[in-house]
Amino acid sequence: MSEPFDLVIHGGTVFTPGGPVSADIGVRAGKTEAIGSLAGAAAAARFDAAHLTVLPGVIDEQVHFREPGPVHKEDLETGTRGAALGGVTAVFEMPNTDPPTTTEAAIADKLARAKGRAWTDHAFYVGASPENAAELGRLERLPGVCGVKMFMGSSTGSLLVADDENVSRVLASGSRRVTVHSEDDMRLQERSALVKDGADVSMHPEWRDVETAVRSTERLLRLARQHHRRVHVLHVTTAEEMELLARHRDIATVEVLPQHLTLAAPECYQRLGTFAQMNPPIREARHRDALWAAIDAGVVDCVGSDHAPHTREEKARPYPRSPSGLTGVQTLLPLLLDHMARGRLTLARLVDLTSAGPARIFGIAGKGRVAKGYDADFTLVDLKAKRTITNAWIASRSGWTAFDGMDVTGWPKATIVRGHIVMRDDALLDKPVGAPVRFQETL
Ligand code: DOR
Repeated sequence: MSEPFDLVIHGGTVFTPGGPVSADIGVRAGKTEAIGSLAGAAAAARFDAAHLTVLPGVIDEQVHFREPGPVHKEDLETGTRGAALGGVTAVFEMPNTDPPTTTEAAIADKLARAKGRAWTDHAFYVGASPENAAELGRLERLPGVCGVKMFMGSSTGSLLVADDENVSRVLASGSRRVTVHSEDDMRLQERSALVKDGADVSMHPEWRDVETAVRSTERLLRLARQHHRRVHVLHVTTAEEMELLARHRDIATVEVLPQHLTLAAPECYQRLGTFAQMNPPIREARHRDALWAAIDAGVVDCVGSDHAPHTREEKARPYPRSPSGLTGVQTLLPLLLDHMARGRLTLARLVDLTSAGPARIFGIAGKGRVAKGYDADFTLVDLKAKRTITNAWIASRSGWTAFDGMDVTGWPKATIVRGHIVMRDDALLDKPVGAPVRFQETL
C-alpha cells in the first residue's frame, strides 16, 4: 500500500488546467501528489470540500505591507493575515517601505522579518533608484525577490526614476520582469498647482490625468523595446493605454485592480471622499468599461490588489495632504467572485488572472495551477455564498475598506498554503507557515 497522504481534500469541484472536474486531491509534503478518486486512500487529515470549488491558490502580485517603517498602518503579520482571510496564498510585496527595499541588506531584513510571522507565501520587489540601477541585475536574482519595481511617477514614499536616462539604466540592468508605476512625473509636477493649496478630492483624476498616464506608458514602451526588456505595467487605468498596450503584447504585460474595475468617478469621490484617493486615480466609467473590454480581449494578464493601507485619521486629512491608497488584499477575491456572479467574467478567466497569470509573468516555480508536483496551494470558494463585506471583517491594521457594506455573491471558505489549512470559515488556523516563493532560474 502506498504511503498515506498528509491531507486529502475530497468531494469538491477542482479547477484543473483543463477546467473544472469532480475530484479529490491528495497532498504529501506540501505538494499535490494525486488528483482523482481517493475514496479509499489513507490520509492523516481530510477536508470535506462538498459544494466548494477548489481553485489554484490566488497570488496577489502587488501589496504594500509597510514593514519596516510605518507599521502603525500594517506589518507583514497583519498584511498576510488579511491575505489568508481573503483566500490569497501568496503575495509579492512592494519596496516603498522605510527604508526602501533597494539593497541586499534590506531584502534580507524583509525575509527575516517574514519568517514565522507570514501567513502566506511571499516574495519582495527590489526598488529601482538612480543609485542602485547598475546593481539591479544582481539584486533581482537574490532568493525571495520577485522582480524590480520602478516608480516613474511619485507616489507614497521616496522611490522615483523619472527621466528617460535613468529609466534606461534600470531597463538595461538584468532580465527579470520590471514592474512599473507608470505616471509621468514631469507632468505631475507641472500640474500640481491645480491641487497643492487645497482642492476637492474629485480633482485627483484631473491633476493625475489621462495624459499623465499615457505619456509615461508611451515612454516606457519605447525604452523597453530599445533595451529588449520585458515590463509589467501595473494598475493600468485608461482606455488609451489599453489600446497602446494591445499593440505591445510581445514586450509588456498588464495588471488591473478591482478598485478600478468596480468604482468610477465622480460617484466614488462624492460617496467616499479621500477614501477613494489612490494613484493612479479612479477615473470615469468610460475607462472602467475599457478595462473590462481589455479583460475580455485578453490584453490584461493579471489582477492584483495594490493593497495600500493608511489609517482612517491619515485618510481624513484635507486633500491633498491625505495619503493615496486603498486596502485591498482581503477583498480582491470576493470582488472578483461577485463580478463573476454578475456575469462580468468566467471562472476560467478569474483563475487565469489570479493564479496562472502571475505565475507566467514572473516565472514562478511550482505555483499557479492545480497539477501533480505543484505546491499544494488552494483557494476553496463557495460560488453561491451571499455575504456582506464589512470593516469589521478587515484584518488590516488600518481597519477599513472602501467596499464596507457591499453585498457580494461568492466567498473564500478556506485557504491552503502548501498543504497547511491556514484559513477556514473566516478563522485563521495552524500558524504562520509562509515561506519565500521560488522562481525559475532561466528567466
Ligand atoms: O495609491 C497608491 N498608494 N499608489 C501607490 O503607488 C503607492 C501606494 C502606497 O504605497 O500607499
